[in-house]
Amino acid sequence: MLVITMSEKKIKKVGIIGCGVIGTLVAQSIEKKIVSCDELVLYDHIQNKATELKASIHFPATVVQNLDEMLKLKPTVIVEAASQKAVRDYIKPITSKGINIIVMSSGALIGANYESEKIQVPSGAIGGLDAISSAALTKITKVHLTTKKNPRAFEMDNKQPKLIYEGSSEEAAKLYPRSMNVASTLSFIVKPAKVQVRLISDPTIKRNTHEIKVKWQFGEMLLCFSNDPHPQNPRTSALAAWSAIKLLSNLLKD
Ligand SMILES: NC(=O)c1ccc[n+]([C@@H]2O[C@H](COP(=O)([O-])OP(=O)(O)OC[C@H]3O[C@@H](n4cnc5c(N)ncnc54)[C@H](O)[C@@H]3O)[C@@H](O)[C@H]2O)c1
Repeated sequence: MLVITMSEKKIKKVGIIGCGVIGTLVAQSIEKKIVSCDELVLYDHIQNKATELKASIHFPATVVQNLDEMLKLKPTVIVEAASQKAVRDYIKPITSKGINIIVMSSGALIGANYESEKIQVPSGAIGGLDAISSAALTKITKVHLTTKKNPRAFEMDNKQPKLIYEGSSEEAAKLYPRSMNVASTLSFIVKPAKVQVRLISDPTIKRNTHEIKVKWQFGEMLLCFSNDPHPQNPRTSALAAWSAIKLLSNLLKD
């Protein structure tokens, strides 16, 4: 019989950069043991956010002041749930240490040349990426993404549906870095095809909706997602956090 003592068992540590809506949901999933992990390391550039998150969960957690301190604690995986800037600033120091990083702010990866198998991009607020990436192996001719959110998500108060952007996923990710991660994620999958994006501020809807139409060599696809926005951040859908939790759980499997 093989007996593994605590000292021999590999300690699983998860680092969270950004203790807002997604970071909190990830930490809570760990507290609830949905993800197998022994310790959390929390960082937010607004330190109160990290200390408040630590205080709100019943789970071993260390709050650090910066990325270097986090790296010294040797996390197994780091979840970026902060901003595109955070990705640009931290991705290289993390991957060069051989640590997996789950990137939520996927717009930061557009046009960048980060080559590392340690970079993990979850499906975020959409899905069906397996089918789309299968089609991309042959030829995708058209990809249209229509995203509708309540004006609250854009800090607008239009009373009628309003088209606020139409164009490429690359430009959309730059102009709307906090609302267009779906467009970025999709654009990695459909390469070399391009994603045409329409972004609509619509007061008649309560949910964040993403409609994806794909035309490819052997057929068409229509995928629709209608996600409840998070009460504290109407731009973010709970599905985005759960996609990170699922990916984290896979990465931490024994
Ligand atoms: N991939 C997707 O489908 C998807 C979906 C929703 C949100 N997102 C993205 O995920 C990220 C997090 O979303 P959220 O809803 O949790 O946002 P949030 O605003 O609720 O939380 C972000 C937290 O990160 C902290 N932060 C920001 N920049 C930082 C930095 N440089 N270093 C350390 N901490 C920093 C903020 O203080 C804040 O506490 C955003 O960039 C958002 O656009 C992606």
